Amino acid sequence: MADLPTTYAHQVPIAIIGGTGLSSLPSSSFTPIALIPETPTPWGLPSSPISILSYTPPTSAPHSKPQVVAFLARHGSHHQYAPHEIPNRANVAALKKLGVRSVVGFSAVGSLREEVKPRDFCVAGGVVDWTKGVRPWTFFEAGMVGHISMADPFDKLLSEAIYSAISAPGVLEGEDIKVHKNNTVICIEGPQFSTRSESLLYRSLPTTPPISCINMSAVPECKLFREAEIAYALILMSTDYDSWHSTNEGVSVNMVMGHMVANGKNAQRAVVAILEELSRDEEGEVVRAKRWERESRGGVMGL
Ligand code: ADE
Repeated sequence: MADLPTTYAHQVPIAIIGGTGLSSLPSSSFTPIALIPETPTPWGLPSSPISILSYTPPTSAPHSKPQVVAFLARHGSHHQYAPHEIPNRANVAALKKLGVRSVVGFSAVGSLREEVKPRDFCVAGGVVDWTKGVRPWTFFEAGMVGHISMADPFDKLLSEAIYSAISAPGVLEGEDIKVHKNNTVICIEGPQFSTRSESLLYRSLPTTPPISCINMSAVPECKLFREAEIAYALILMSTDYDSWHSTNEGVSVNMVMGHMVANGKNAQRAVVAILEELSRDEEGEVVRAKRWERESRGGVMGL
């Protein structure tokens, strides 16, 4: 991709953030248009170059339209950033600069419920922040004071469109794979997995709906997109039963890896299905998030 344009002269309405397992978009459906190298923002360099790609619908979907999409690797091109090292503010600022209005994030998670099996996908509905306050988590500081609502961290319209796209029969491959919705995810600091006692504690917390997934990256990503007034939805890809499960020795990287590879392939299929679904959104209500122009949520408008 060396001779691709490398400027910010693009207006890209939608971006995908790939987590562990999703490091690129499939070349069978996406054609590279530009590669924006890690360009400094006031909050440092983003995790990875940002690829700008065009989605070409298959001939079997004659009514779908080509779409331009941005892709950023959350953990870096070489998976070099641990969850607590991800430059989240720079990532959000770099996407904002591209004109991005809607973001779909993917994240590997542990499951805290029997019914969310490894390799199942969930569309997140709520977040519990269990990080330790060591990650920079806001744009509002150094004399700029602001408070945004975090009641509903994920964009409802976008999340509904995603659920409808990826739960359609045949989209995700694998025996007995299920897509869940409105899942509550607890985000821990990591990089260590939880102790058995912690895992049991998280299961017992009285949220509605109960916490069903655990990861290390939902926060502060969801908070910063809210502050930046970018609609955000998060797809949780289950890789393990964390440490609470009776059949479990405790979660390990080996246990996670096999499921991660399968999830990565399904994540690529999910992105295609989501773009197909969004291309039916004639008014651009979901992607361009017109509703965000109507209501001010007190975000960092000038970002
Ligand atoms: N990511 C994948 N599995 C996880 C787990 N069990 N805890 C935290 N993050 C995870």
